[in-house]
Amino acid sequence: METSAPQPAQRIGVPRETFPGEKRVATVPDVVEKLIKLGFTVAVESGAGDAANFSDDAYRAAGAEIIDGAAALWAASDIVFKVRPPSEGEVGLMREGGTLIDYIWPAQNPALMQQLADRKTTVLAIDCLPRTLSRAQKMDALTSQAGVTGYRAVIEAANAFGRYFNGQITAAGKVPPAKVFIAGAGVAGLAAIGTAANLGAIVRANDTRAEVADQVKSLGGEFVKVDYEEEGSGGGGYAKVMSEGFQAAQRAMYAQQAKDADIIITTALIPGKPAPKLITAEMVQSMKPGSVIVDMAAEQGGNCELTVPGEAVVRHGVTIVGYTDLASRLAKQSSTLYATNLLRLTEELCKAKDGVAVVNMEDDAIRGLTVVNHGAITWPAPPLKQAPAPAPKAAAPVAEKKSGHGHGPGAPMPAKTAAIMFAVAAVVFWLIGAFAPAAFLGHFTVFVLACFIGYMVVWNVTPALHTPLMSVTNAISSIIAIGALVQIAPPEAGMDGRPDGLIRWLAFAALVLTAVNMFGGFAVTRRMLAMFRK
Ligand code: NAI
Repeated sequence: METSAPQPAQRIGVPRETFPGEKRVATVPDVVEKLIKLGFTVAVESGAGDAANFSDDAYRAAGAEIIDGAAALWAASDIVFKVRPPSEGEVGLMREGGTLIDYIWPAQNPALMQQLADRKTTVLAIDCLPRTLSRAQKMDALTSQAGVTGYRAVIEAANAFGRYFNGQITAAGKVPPAKVFIAGAGVAGLAAIGTAANLGAIVRANDTRAEVADQVKSLGGEFVKVDYEEEGSGGGGYAKVMSEGFQAAQRAMYAQQAKDADIIITTALIPGKPAPKLITAEMVQSMKPGSVIVDMAAEQGGNCELTVPGEAVVRHGVTIVGYTDLASRLAKQSSTLYATNLLRLTEELCKAKDGVAVVNMEDDAIRGLTVVNHGAITWPAPPLKQAPAPAPKAAAPVAEKKSGHGHGPGAPMPAKTAAIMFAVAAVVFWLIGAFAPAAFLGHFTVFVLACFIGYMVVWNVTPALHTPLMSVTNAISSIIAIGALVQIAPPEAGMDGRPDGLIRWLAFAALVLTAVNMFGGFAVTRRMLAMFRK
């Protein structure tokens, strides 16, 4: 594929998924049309989209060719799009030297990697995308699918739970809102928080990475801290295994939450490690009868000791849902998002729009994705040049920031320096007061007071609100401009003591413009603030 010689357009093939119970499909009719616009031809195995409600006819109408049988489809395809990693049989069907774009999980599937290499294939593993590259977000299938699973986990919980999520006061009595506790606030956890909060539940959440607390709040949840100071980031936005001390403190907090919550949804994962066990059998026993646990980490061993992967079981009166196919249970949605992720990746591979995919190993995103290149195993990719992991925060600056409250970021000013500055300012003000004209003194006093009030108002505003603050101050500044306009037009400028025609027209134009700035500024601020509200 890495050649500059002109090549005929390639065919993208989409087989029917063979993993038991998998309903998703790797492309959808809307995306087929766009792949064809990129110059490719598209073939879909007959019935591939049935389980996700995409018929052969819909694919045909979008321009795809429908091929009967997996063997014929694989044999006819230069590039294969798939969802689940291929079985040994499927690798056997693949064209020698062909390209596969799919979930692979190379760390967990070394034998599959070797089979793919032996077949001289090129494999782009969608699960190996360097997610911290902002350019890669449009291709991030892990995120798109996690969003679907988080949503579906709440729906499964609601299905198994015998009550409303929202509180209600009815003639038949008062219904309290359900209490939902979410363990792990990554992509899936945040989707679950938003969904449960929208259904009206009281939502609490915990994560080892303290940085997610604001995101939890912005989605309508309450972040519950573990009473133990330890940074949980393991780099690249992922978590690390926590110390024994932290785990003990976390267990104590989770035990409290288990007694109080009606529903627990667990999403905690650590890359390359078994899922941390956060919900013990005792905690399950302490929950109210009829409570529900949805363990989204079931496939990686589960966050709850009593989870049975792939099944919903009842233990101590609590329903524990361990389904491992949550995204597949919303197949139309998850397939559409996955297909769009693959389309964005194909656009990156085919910038010339000539129907030929080019794997550019100099491109960080493509390099990360490419786990086998023409039969050579290229996984794992070298670390990204622009290291995304944030530097660990030292204890000292944090303490300084706390004690520096009210003085803005950075160290507080030493008392001696402050005293000298006040003395100098006092002398300057005395000189101005003694020698400046009276009119200047009045304006100067207003100016100093305005600076002081502005500083006090703006300085303590949360950084997240700085953009709406800017637009509202911009709008307010327009009012000042109106005052300035009145001053610009001197009473003696025109006849009978009023400004002459030209100045009045200019003033009118300025007024119109300032009005746009003023009303526009307030409108924009309102819209921005609405984004922060639930
Ligand atoms: P994940 O599926 O690996 O883990 C889920 C969550 O479980 C994480 O938030 C993790 O901190 C938490 N967790 C792990 N151990 C825990 C424990 N013992 N107790 C409580 N919580 C625990 O993570 P996911 O959802 O795939 O992504 C995690 C983060 O990666 C995102 O929140 C984001 O910061 C980052 N990311 C960044 C992207 C970007 O920069 N474009 C794109 C996608 C993700």
